[in-house]
Amino acid sequence: MTAPAMAYPEGIFVPFARRARAIVGSRAKIFAVGRIIDIQMAEQIIADGDADMVAMTRAQLADPFLVRKAKEGREQDTVRCIGANFCASRSRYGLEVTCLVNPAAGRERKWGHGTRKDATNPRASWSSAVARPG
Ligand SMILES: Cc1cc2nc3c(=O)[nH]c(=O)nc-3n(C[C@H](O)[C@H](O)[C@H](O)COP(=O)(O)O)c2cc1C
Ligand code: SF4
Repeated sequence: MTAPAMAYPEGIFVPFARRARAIVGSRAKIFAVGRIIDIQMAEQIIADGDADMVAMTRAQLADPFLVRKAKEGREQDTVRCIGANFCASRSRYGLEVTCLVNPAAGRERKWGHGTRKDATNPRASWSSAVARPG
């Protein structure tokens, strides 16, 4: 399992990073990876000494401005990866990689970066969308 989907907990592989850290000590750098989608969680992993670095692959597909937003104190504006693995599935079939919550991903040359906009009138839920189609 390389890209754990939404059914799996965030930071699912951190215990393995911790174990690797305990085994190798300072002889190697440890990267933690796997459903780390939150800057706070990333910081905590480093602060706890479980890893030297944190990889956030899908988190940055979902929001390439993740780090910038955190630096600017706008973490609440982050578009979070939902673990749908639309990206990984497309990659597996040789299709362009894009993202369910950031459709501009992989199409930046055509659409530009960060072009996803919130709906002005979002529907409350799936059931209300079914009840009031269109
Ligand atoms: C679209 C996509 C393509 C990937 N391609 C590779 C790859 O070519 N080689 C690789 O080692 N890992 C690849 N991965 C796995 C990531 O490097 C990473 O281990 C995985 O996505 C889990 O991290 P995440 O939860 O931060 O996304 C890919 C992941 C995604 C989503
Ligand atoms: S398609 Fe986007 S939201 Fe879904 S897993 Fe991939 S990066 Fe995350």
